[in-house]
Amino acid sequence: MTLQAPSQNAVRAADPAAPRHVAIIMDGNGRWANERGMPRLSGHKAGTGNFHRVLRTFHERGVDFVTLYAFSTENWSRPPAEVSGLLSLLTAVIASSMDELHENNVRIRHLGELRHLPDDLAEAIRGAVARTGGNSGLELCVAFDYGGRAEIVRAVRRIVAAGTAPEQVTEELISANLYLPDVPDPDLIIRTAGEQRLSNFLIWQAAYSEYYHTPVYWPDFDAEEAERALAEYKRRRRRFGALPEEG
Ligand code: IPE
Ligand code: IPE
Ligand code: MG
Repeated sequence: MTLQAPSQNAVRAADPAAPRHVAIIMDGNGRWANERGMPRLSGHKAGTGNFHRVLRTFHERGVDFVTLYAFSTENWSRPPAEVSGLLSLLTAVIASSMDELHENNVRIRHLGELRHLPDDLAEAIRGAVARTGGNSGLELCVAFDYGGRAEIVRAVRRIVAAGTAPEQVTEELISANLYLPDVPDPDLIIRTAGEQRLSNFLIWQAAYSEYYHTPVYWPDFDAEEAERALAEYKRRRRRFGALPEEG
């Protein structure tokens, strides 16, 4: 995988309309497996096979940040065997992908809570974040044990604990107290498998994101599907509440 193609700057210059940050709700692993008569965990496993290619496509098209929604605060309510399967899967994916991601200058970030995770997984995530902290290529943000409401509650608690006066509470201050304050809001949120909801994903940051959904299940979302989402994004006209530009 080459996430830093020599032609990257040329591509970027030719494609100024690319979203800077793409966030993905990776959904449909269970249905993918079900349709094949396989256990749900096989679907989750299949869902780890495509992300290198999808990342490469986005990066080649000028995307600087990709956030993947891998496990929500609500996903704890799934059967224990599925939950532990998902936790083990992330541990395995980190072990098998780290070298390649690091060699490709990818910086790994985490958003969510580490304290509810098994020690080995929490350590693996901390290790991946620390090892790639100096990388300057694509930023890969992994939302694991992440919930948008929990993130806002955490931000408010931090603001209150700092003794902030009410009139000092601003939108910027809330943004500055989220998990990854330096990461820009997502320009494009993609959801696979046909659902049309956020499911507690980046609810503060999504205020003006463009939303794209596709019936394709996550394990089948490939480079071509990524290109399709980018092409659709290019057709959107973002107005942010103002009037459309003339011309
Ligand atoms: C998404 O696939 C992966 C996670 C939520 C962890 P699902 O497991 O939600 O798949 P469906 O929605 O049941 O098909
Ligand atoms: C959202 O998918 C969470 C992740 C992709 C990690 P879910 O499958 O959990 O969402 P709902 O239950 O359909 O809203
Ligand atoms: Mg689902």
